[in-house]
Amino acid sequence: MTILADLTDTAIDLVERHAAHNYSPLPVVAASAEGVWITDVDGRRYLDCLAAYSAVNFGHRHPEIVATAHAQLDTVTLVSRAFHSDRLGPFCAALAELCAKDMVLPMNSGAEAVESGLKVARKWGTDVKGVPAGQANIIVADNNFHGRTISIVSFSSDPVARGGFGPFTPGFRSVPFGDAAALARAIDEHTVAVLLEPIQGEAGIIVPPDDYLPAVRALCSEHNVLMIADEIQSGLARTGYTFACDRWGVVPDVYLLGKALGGGVVPLSAVVADADVLGVLNPGEHGSTFGGNPLAAAIGATVVGLLARGEFQARSAELGTHLHEGLGALIGGGVTAVRGFGLWAGVDIDPQLGTGKQISLRLADRGVLVKDTHDWTLRFAPPLVITAAEIEWVVAQFAAVLREAILS
Ligand SMILES: Cc1ncc(COP(=O)(O)O)c(C=O)c1O
Repeated sequence: MTILADLTDTAIDLVERHAAHNYSPLPVVAASAEGVWITDVDGRRYLDCLAAYSAVNFGHRHPEIVATAHAQLDTVTLVSRAFHSDRLGPFCAALAELCAKDMVLPMNSGAEAVESGLKVARKWGTDVKGVPAGQANIIVADNNFHGRTISIVSFSSDPVARGGFGPFTPGFRSVPFGDAAALARAIDEHTVAVLLEPIQGEAGIIVPPDDYLPAVRALCSEHNVLMIADEIQSGLARTGYTFACDRWGVVPDVYLLGKALGGGVVPLSAVVADADVLGVLNPGEHGSTFGGNPLAAAIGATVVGLLARGEFQARSAELGTHLHEGLGALIGGGVTAVRGFGLWAGVDIDPQLGTGKQISLRLADRGVLVKDTHDWTLRFAPPLVITAAEIEWVVAQFAAVLREAILS
């Protein structure tokens, strides 16, 4: 951005000096937020088209979610799993029903849900499938993004995510995303799971061919392998469906959920599966002090209630069409491709116009917050409470930024 005011500078300077430099954020310092709008410390307003990587699907400070949080803060917030709380059961029951599965393993961050899903798959492989101890393999897709732990970056194809962090966890095989034949070749008698994002988010909102996920489902069933869908970013109404897998009528064995599950208020993630899978865990084999805490569980139950009504899925589908039409009209005018469904769009920009980061900075100058993913791809993923008029305004700002870039 061109002009930085004092409060913004001061806030960023403090972060630069005292917070680890593991992000490269836009120079916008949020002071408050409501719905789709963020106001910065200098009083400028921005339309948030990232929605905290889809953690704010329901909008900033959704009234029902905030009311639940306030009420729960006044009762009980944390007991650990050493005791029961009256909030955990209703949350797990509601989430299991939403997923049409039996059981829920509550965790906190998305990466924890992924780690937990991997552990469950290995345990299932040993206890149920009969794979000799220590010999299980799990198949993943090239260009995946599942989080930042050592095991997860062990099967990342991103050199920046992996560089310097070895030694890595063994037991993973990576095959091209969208290529069912390559997956079939990689499966052997020790394969316990296939872990996939149904649509690859961080890779640039990469949508697989229509026959891919049904083929993955069939291969997993045929070979007695768990299909694990990481719906942490794609799920919970983002694509116009409760789960992105729904678009292809595919039901995985295991859902990994996070981000929006916590309503944009608390970290809350979950592994959701039937009892023949999640039932492999016994006391002492897995856990988390904060996993399933009463505050998060209360919020999660409210989130599931919002999703059960279906209105966010419908909104995302309908307004997503509007967003995709608007962005699609820019192809040839600085945009080279638009991908995705619902209110989730990956937009490739002509590299001659500048990097995604540079375009993001210009958009921020015009009051629109988007994030680049890789060099020339921008992600538009606003809260699902955005209106048609706001979408038109966002697209107009983007068109103006592209025009300026073409002329400069
Ligand atoms: C598909 C997917 N899985 C897992 C994660 C990790 O979630 P968290 O950052 O909460 O650990 C992300 C985060 O972007 C994600 O997009």
